[in-house]
Amino acid sequence: MKTYRVIVVGMGKRGMHHAESFAANPRFELAGICDIDRARVDAAAPALGNPRTDVDAEALAKSVKPDVFCFCTLPNLRLPLIRLGIDCGARLIAFEKPVAMTSAEGIEIRKALDAAHVKAVVSHQHRYGVHYRKVKEIIASGAIGRVRTVYGTSTGWAAHMLSHLVDYTCWFNDYVDAEWAMGQAAGRGKLADLHSSPDYVEGVVHFKNGVRGIYDCGAGAPDVPEVDASREQRLWWRKARMGAQGTDGFAEVLTNGGWRAVTPKGAMSGPGNMDYKQDMPPYIQEMADWLDDDHKIHSCAFANAYKGFEIMSALYRSAAEGGQIALPLTDGKDELQELKGRLSSEKVRLTIPESAKEYTS
Ligand SMILES: NC(=O)c1ccc[n+]([C@@H]2O[C@H](COP(=O)([O-])OP(=O)(O)OC[C@H]3O[C@@H](n4cnc5c(N)ncnc54)[C@H](O)[C@@H]3O)[C@@H](O)[C@H]2O)c1
Repeated sequence: MKTYRVIVVGMGKRGMHHAESFAANPRFELAGICDIDRARVDAAAPALGNPRTDVDAEALAKSVKPDVFCFCTLPNLRLPLIRLGIDCGARLIAFEKPVAMTSAEGIEIRKALDAAHVKAVVSHQHRYGVHYRKVKEIIASGAIGRVRTVYGTSTGWAAHMLSHLVDYTCWFNDYVDAEWAMGQAAGRGKLADLHSSPDYVEGVVHFKNGVRGIYDCGAGAPDVPEVDASREQRLWWRKARMGAQGTDGFAEVLTNGGWRAVTPKGAMSGPGNMDYKQDMPPYIQEMADWLDDDHKIHSCAFANAYKGFEIMSALYRSAAEGGQIALPLTDGKDELQELKGRLSSEKVRLTIPESAKEYTS
């Protein structure tokens, strides 16, 4: 079996998760790691089998010429690293959500990947959790009847969380194309964050099969009281709920609170918590499977993630411009810039007191 050579650029929290998982998988050779912070990359190397290290991603990529170019930088850096991954000859580029911060950049990323015929995956890896898979399995089995509505809520702000909410609910709806989206937004505080977002965004999506998507993300989203964050602020990020209602019942997953469903057979539930250690290995393994065989398309393939990205951009665009935004998007814009010009300075209203620590301005 071929071993694929990989480099990881950006060795922060998620870069470490990726590098550790590549190093632990015999189908990959972790050939290099890179961070602009020399101390960080040097500290990471010994536990990863001492791959090559560099502070310059271009120099590393062009000398290693990896099969897989993986980057885990903050969302302000995407298109230049996609181009670098293509230029260094990688067959697969793995990168983090969100796909991009503007529809203008996302469209350029898609064009560049399509033109180069390079595979790409985006890390929506929560889906490998047992509770996420159970909900998908129940919906796909037909046990809740014909799906009419999918929904996602999270108190964490959009650049962190909306990408996940939309991706998993699109998965529940078999990634059927969306026809339009309409949204509202409030609160300017997080526009200044590197995960730049309105503090609160909510909206609806009409999918071509008639399914309605309902999203509620940020300071004004409803609580998920089943996830108790009173002792651990980390869990505040996991107050997220995603599910589907069908003609005969419903099924939903809570990021740190298991799953539950009601079907004609009765009510049922089970455990499950988001866990990077459990979710990363299958995400990494599917990259080898897809490189081995073009038919084994990765569950987190760019084409799927891009649909969610367009929905997210359309919700922002609608919040800034008003109206229903037709999908797919045909023109690129900077929706966050539009929101900066549009949102009032009125402080966002919080739904739960724990959010006060996060939405300070
Ligand atoms: N999928 C998930 O569950 C999940 C969870 C958390 C974060 N994320 C996403 O992962 C991404 C990274 O987040 P993080 O928490 O790991 O960030 P981080 O700040 O911990 O790490 C980013 C690293 O990139 C480095 N970097 C920046 N520019 C660079 C460059 N030009 N070349 C090389 N290195 C460079 C920084 O020095 C830093 O070490 C974000 O897009 C975030 O939204 C995803």
